[in-house]
Amino acid sequence: MAQLWGSRFTGELSDLAKKFTYSTHYDSKLALYDCIGSIAHARMLGKRGIIPRKDAAAIVKGLEKIMARIEKGQYACDPSSEDIHTDIQDKLKKMIGKPADRLHTARSRNDQVVTDVRLYCLNHLNTIQALVDGLQIELVKFADKNQDVIIPAYTHLQSAQVVLLAHQALSYVEMLERDKGRFEDAARRTSLNTLGACALSGTTLPTDRASVTEELGLAATAMNSMDAVSDRDFILEILAAISIAGTHLSRIAEDLIIWCSSEFAFVSIDDAFCTGSSIMPHKKNPDVLELVRGTSAKFPAAFVQLSMLMKGLPHTYNRDMQLDKPALFACVEAVEDMLAIMAQVFGGVTLNRDFLKARVNAEYFFSVDVLDYLVKKGATYREAHDAVGVMVKECLDKGVSLKSLSAKELKEFSPLLGEDVKKLLNAEASVRGKRSLGSTNPTLVKAEIGKWKKRLK
Ligand code: ARG
Repeated sequence: MAQLWGSRFTGELSDLAKKFTYSTHYDSKLALYDCIGSIAHARMLGKRGIIPRKDAAAIVKGLEKIMARIEKGQYACDPSSEDIHTDIQDKLKKMIGKPADRLHTARSRNDQVVTDVRLYCLNHLNTIQALVDGLQIELVKFADKNQDVIIPAYTHLQSAQVVLLAHQALSYVEMLERDKGRFEDAARRTSLNTLGACALSGTTLPTDRASVTEELGLAATAMNSMDAVSDRDFILEILAAISIAGTHLSRIAEDLIIWCSSEFAFVSIDDAFCTGSSIMPHKKNPDVLELVRGTSAKFPAAFVQLSMLMKGLPHTYNRDMQLDKPALFACVEAVEDMLAIMAQVFGGVTLNRDFLKARVNAEYFFSVDVLDYLVKKGATYREAHDAVGVMVKECLDKGVSLKSLSAKELKEFSPLLGEDVKKLLNAEASVRGKRSLGSTNPTLVKAEIGKWKKRLK
């Protein structure tokens, strides 16, 4: 049986129509979840006396065997099956005979497919959250073991101020924590039992949907059968969360790409994540990072695709909705790979410590520290900004350092400037001098590392 319908028809679907509409080449990823849903459904049908108990037991046993095959990677779809739901039911029929024909009682593929997709999403959201944890743990380790390292930080990709490398690594941890929150939030709304809504209006049969909800370990039962079969918001939410996480991963990858260029030369990336050039023998390209950046483009594209897919659909189920799957599966799998690989990349970053040490002592990095010094001595912010601006410009024009200015020369820029300002003109002093909550001060950053270590345990 290639499809679960047919008696109403005299003609067959054309070959081209089959090719165009059949979906086992992508929805077979739902096989395991389809069995899990069907087992819960069959048990309920048996308990409620809707189908004979022994038939329910035979169905459950058969589906468990099919599940074992799927788990061993030994399940192959028949190419003549319309979709995975049909294929599994066919295989069950071949295995247990007539009782299999009772499985589809009090359900339709409309509630079945959305339940399968919800179970798929919940399982993968779990994996994604664990992978986010894994990347955060690597970042915290990276911050911890390089606590003494100071790096230049940028706005507009122009040298701005110096910060602890650990401070920047922890800023990635914060971004990922928000991503995790969004995945958790999406999971809460995904955890809904839609099975038993049937085609769209419910059933006259005495089902017990709450028991199915419980058996599937879902948080709630969908309370409107029409909404149950037509809602795909949960997929949009997951894609939105993946899109934002993808943006984060792309930005983190971009920072590393810049840092490992020979112009910046802050870090080098392990060979395991780079490739060479077919023509330029000296090259070591950060391809993995570039593909993390590139792959993230697919997520908002999928979000837009599915928003467009859904926005004009009349209530309730429409076959268009079958196409939610390729985009969803591709994004879920890609973000999992990206999270896993970024964790590995951070495990293999080597710092160019000597280069960084020299680089972070360029005096312009400390202009704001000098400005704050003047404010502490009573200058208004504006006076301080002007004085430091003139001083920096003159030093740059003349090619001299602030440190080389005499007490008299310093006073010409501001009467409040003393020689003690020179103590501020180094990277260690600059980060140590920061004291505001959330700043790059080493004591505060150390405490944050401790907090994250505890939290991510
Ligand atoms: N393969 C379909 C999908 O993925 C299953 C539901 C089909 N329902 C229907 N009434 N044709 O959406």
